[in-house]
Amino acid sequence: MSAPFDLSVTDELLSTTRAVRRRLDLDRPVERDVILDCIRLSQQAPTGGNQQGWSWVVVTDPGKRKALAELYSASGDVYLPQAHAAAVEQGNGQTVRVYDSAMFLNDILADVPVHVIPCMQGRIPENADNATAASMYGSIFPAVWSFQIALRSRGLGSTLTTIHLFQEAEAAKLLGIPDDFSQVGLLPVAYTKGSDFKHAKRPDPESITHFDSW
Ligand SMILES: Cc1cc2nc3c(=O)[nH]c(=O)nc-3n(C[C@H](O)[C@H](O)[C@H](O)COP(=O)(O)O)c2cc1C
Repeated sequence: MSAPFDLSVTDELLSTTRAVRRRLDLDRPVERDVILDCIRLSQQAPTGGNQQGWSWVVVTDPGKRKALAELYSASGDVYLPQAHAAAVEQGNGQTVRVYDSAMFLNDILADVPVHVIPCMQGRIPENADNATAASMYGSIFPAVWSFQIALRSRGLGSTLTTIHLFQEAEAAKLLGIPDDFSQVGLLPVAYTKGSDFKHAKRPDPESITHFDSW
């Protein structure tokens, strides 16, 4: 097969872009330009109706990061130990490790040098139908994932998190985010310690793929 890109590089990038928490380098500053480069690349992502209603809030101010971490842990302190205990009970080793790592992030979030909050214009209406919800969230998460891939290719790591959204209104007030924008997550961003991340164990694609009918 002849491919227009070096598949050994692109496939490795796509299959090793992990949620990075323990291996974030909390001491190395992150340049503003590298964040802007990754946002620039994310802007090539698709959106429904070519609306591109994206805005990104990049937080480096230590006081604001501390306040965001407090909002995050207001829910994280409750939810994460419960989810961890449930995974232990189910004997699900991979998920136990994820929640161990998520609790670690919950504890160190204030110290991660950059918090990035992707925002989309508008808000999913209450009782939105599936098409509306899919087209709104589907118009921002491709950009968020492109941002994360671009970070990884430059030696930085991140995790898509959503826990602070239980305190979304407080975060909006802290950061001056206008009422007509919805936050969709918070990505703690830092250079990574090393760059050798592994493939995750996933089921065979044949087991989740249905050709022509389910
Ligand atoms: C919609 C969504 C919400 C998530 N929320 C959180 C979160 O609040 N906190 C966290 O530590 N990780 C969060 N994650 C990261 C997942 O835990 C992680 O992607 C998953 O365990 C798989 O790990 P991997 O990305 O390294 O393959 C979230 C991921 C997604 C896609």
